[in-house]
Amino acid sequence: MLLGRQKLKPLLLPLLLLSVFLLHSSIAVKRDDFKTCDQAAFCRRNRAYADKALADSGHSPYALLPESIRFDDGLFTADVRNTLTNVILTFELHLLEDNTARLRINEKKPLKPRYDELPAFVLAKEPVHIKPEKVAQDQDGTTIITLDATKKTKVVVSANPLRVDFLVDDVPVVSLNDRGFFNFEHLRKKPEPEQPKMVDQSAEQQEDAAAEVTEQPEEEKQLWEETFKTWTDPKPNGPESVAMDISFPGFAYVYGVPEHASSLSLKETRGGDNAYTEPYRLYNLDVFEYEVDNPMALYGSIPFMLAHRKDLSAAVFWMNAAETWIDVVKTQDGKSQSTLRRLLPFVTNPPTKSSTHTHWISEAGIVDLFVFLGPTNEDIFRQYTALTGAPAMPASFAIAYHQCRWNYINQNDVAEVDAGFDTHDIPYDVIWLDIEHTDGKRYMTWDEAKFPDPMKMQNELAAKGRKLVTIVDPHIKRDDNYHISKEAQDLGLFVKTPAGDDYEGWCWPGSSSWVDYTNPAARNWWIKKFAFDQYKHTTENLHIWNDMNEPSVFNGPEITMQKEMIHHGQWEHRVLHNVFGTIYHGSTAQGIKNRTPIATRPFVLSRAFFAGTQRHGAIWTGDNMATWDQLRYTNPMLLTIGVSGLPFAGADVGGFFNNPAPDLLVRWYQAGAFQPFLRAHAHIDTKRREPWLFGEPYTTIIRDVLRERYKLLPYWYTLFFDAHRKGIPAMRPMFVEFPKDEETFAMDDQFMVGAGLLVKPVTTEGADTAEVYLPGDEISILVLHHLWTLALIQKCFAIRLQPWYDYRSFKPYPPRRHTVAAPLDIVPVFVRGGHIIPRRDRPRRSSAGMKLDPFTLVIALDNKGQSTGTLYLDDGETYAFETGAYIHRSFHYASGVLTTRSLHLDPTSAAARGFAKALEGVRVERLIILGALQQPAKVIVKDEDGTERQVEFEWVQREKRLTVRDPRVSVVGDKWSVRVV
Ligand code: NOJ
Repeated sequence: MLLGRQKLKPLLLPLLLLSVFLLHSSIAVKRDDFKTCDQAAFCRRNRAYADKALADSGHSPYALLPESIRFDDGLFTADVRNTLTNVILTFELHLLEDNTARLRINEKKPLKPRYDELPAFVLAKEPVHIKPEKVAQDQDGTTIITLDATKKTKVVVSANPLRVDFLVDDVPVVSLNDRGFFNFEHLRKKPEPEQPKMVDQSAEQQEDAAAEVTEQPEEEKQLWEETFKTWTDPKPNGPESVAMDISFPGFAYVYGVPEHASSLSLKETRGGDNAYTEPYRLYNLDVFEYEVDNPMALYGSIPFMLAHRKDLSAAVFWMNAAETWIDVVKTQDGKSQSTLRRLLPFVTNPPTKSSTHTHWISEAGIVDLFVFLGPTNEDIFRQYTALTGAPAMPASFAIAYHQCRWNYINQNDVAEVDAGFDTHDIPYDVIWLDIEHTDGKRYMTWDEAKFPDPMKMQNELAAKGRKLVTIVDPHIKRDDNYHISKEAQDLGLFVKTPAGDDYEGWCWPGSSSWVDYTNPAARNWWIKKFAFDQYKHTTENLHIWNDMNEPSVFNGPEITMQKEMIHHGQWEHRVLHNVFGTIYHGSTAQGIKNRTPIATRPFVLSRAFFAGTQRHGAIWTGDNMATWDQLRYTNPMLLTIGVSGLPFAGADVGGFFNNPAPDLLVRWYQAGAFQPFLRAHAHIDTKRREPWLFGEPYTTIIRDVLRERYKLLPYWYTLFFDAHRKGIPAMRPMFVEFPKDEETFAMDDQFMVGAGLLVKPVTTEGADTAEVYLPGDEISILVLHHLWTLALIQKCFAIRLQPWYDYRSFKPYPPRRHTVAAPLDIVPVFVRGGHIIPRRDRPRRSSAGMKLDPFTLVIALDNKGQSTGTLYLDDGETYAFETGAYIHRSFHYASGVLTTRSLHLDPTSAAARGFAKALEGVRVERLIILGALQQPAKVIVKDEDGTERQVEFEWVQREKRLTVRDPRVSVVGDKWSVRVV
């Protein structure tokens, strides 16, 4: 057993754990448990390297060797020499389809291979190369590659010093090594300490000489061994970091690199206003009671960054799973651009606005960097998820409401909570069991005293269309009587120590080991563990929660696994730490998928995440606290995770630690109801807080907002389908929908759900009003910023600005800033003119009961009296949609006529027709048309067969709202129309 050279008396451990994990309700994050950049030698070294490079005017010692350049089928390769060390690196520039490029830099002849196995875990497909339109080369090797002459997209590889610029419209948008921070620490032999000359020396002289040998400079010592608190990392490979500066010239705003409890628009980290002093850190860690407004690492990492400006977006993905730090600074028309202008005389329009410069520092691995040239945000979402995988299409229950706490204590408790929802008429779909349901934290077992008949429990839930989720953590209790532990041990599937023993650490069950999911044999074994004859007393109705998979190791450095531990292929944990939890998550999801002959969509929630997690399921933001601040930060955190390719994310509603006051709980439900993954959860020490326990008016308010979520499930499901197909998140930052309105670029206290709903959660205690910014189209934006001209322009030109409508009262609002009423029972939500929102309005106890319910279409008209929207439906459970069993329709309202058409890719296929047939009887039962100009004389429905009939309607003059009652048209019909005359 090796515990990072720290010995802990086993008996003290349970006490320590108790004090740390159960009595922490009064303590804030223990910052000292986690490293600062200065305490991570490679981060410190690279920051110093950057400072030196800046002092040397950005001079980089790396030069491309012109005679080594080869160009073949979209792949540009060359050797790069570090002119200081003479170490040669291989440089590969891959030109890929869909405005994407990849840069890979490795050592040409490393002492031993560097870790390059990430693509197998992260990429969904082999990237496809394209041939550039033109390649021009100087004698010194500087190469200009024209990707697309019309779009003026180019890559310029400058040879000496090495630098790469990506251009759109002949303007550089991403520049690599423009500040000379690129640093590739080659593998080297550990220097033997010089032997002191012992001959002919007095004892005193010998002692002095020996002392001299041990007194290595601290910085050098830390190249080969590093101590943090009581842990010493033996670093057998010595220094091996890779670092690169990536600039986004002309971009003042960058986003991404979750997970941090920080703002959506990333802050500066080395000087500047309101800056952090630490870089953003990516290192999956179990940080309890984390602080907000802090760049400290949290449970997940996605090294993806998006840069946006008015006319353009670009992004990078630094594919490296080792500990990584990212510095961000911003400049006004940086010096780097004048250098660039000298270098690239054809640059027509050098940016003069603020630019963002970032510095990426990883402890190990290679440089494997993707650059996405957009040009729009939508393009980037597609480009990134085409590479790292489509977000999984969730089962329909997964996007409904989940009820969790640590712990529902026994079967009776589950039955009572379940009944409580029915008694109080509150919809819910899933109840969760935390670690206490197991036999002594042996996952995939049951505590039989507390849960005597788990099958009955699941079947009773199923009868109401509800599901059960149980927790399965990756730490395996070391116990020969526990079949999982015994098998994994016998099969040699655990992570190993450098000495070759099974790695052992402490977690909930006490002494534990961790299955090495990077080993294909371990993954195959794990997947089979979810078969019904293996995970006993489970049914199709049970899904899984993967917690603690950073991995959390209570007695490890920074509460995680020691970096020197060994995985399959003899790779150190160091090189793959950040992807470990994702591989585990993926294996669990595969296990759930495989357990039935016809695969159903698994639901697996994970705490740790990395690029690619979106293929496996949902994540949540871990152990937050019941405070207003933490509620506020759920918005930027989830927005950031969403734009980083992972749309299915949520935060514990109510706050995990401590007891929320009823108003905080209510406000949290109101925010959560409009966030993608909606689950209430609470720590074992907190008071019970099922939605009806606080009495009135709280129960009613929570019921109302949960019902609102259920009404909007068809809209959410359609948005998740869009996320699955195109990578675009359902919960969107304002700038994604209003990419030309700079006012929105740093906005993260309000957001869009899809393109049609704007949500402004109230996150301030006692507030009964809220400030909302309702953006407009381009004309409106112009006017918005010159409010005094608004009235005049409207008067002179009779311009109608893009309207918004209050979601509840339907009152129209012009685009601009508003102070709106937001008493406790109201969360400000607005429908955007021009968008149709599909709903199912009948209250049901779970989403299963809504599958054949009729639809209401909320048709919010724009300033031209038009509106469009889409609706996606499938069986909500299986993969039949992949072979065509789904409905995807668009609705369009113009000139007073509502029409519909199919967006199905193959509408005449048997699968499409079969599914449509099953839904034939499902009708649109109500149209709510907002912003209609005048009271109609009649409303006429034209049926599929061409016959016409009049239907009833209601007109409300004050709101200009027209409600068409039961037009009785089928949701699968193609030919009907509704005409307002
Ligand atoms: C830590 C998780 O973050 C929390 O949600 C869970 O309740 C506890 N582990 C116990 O399993």
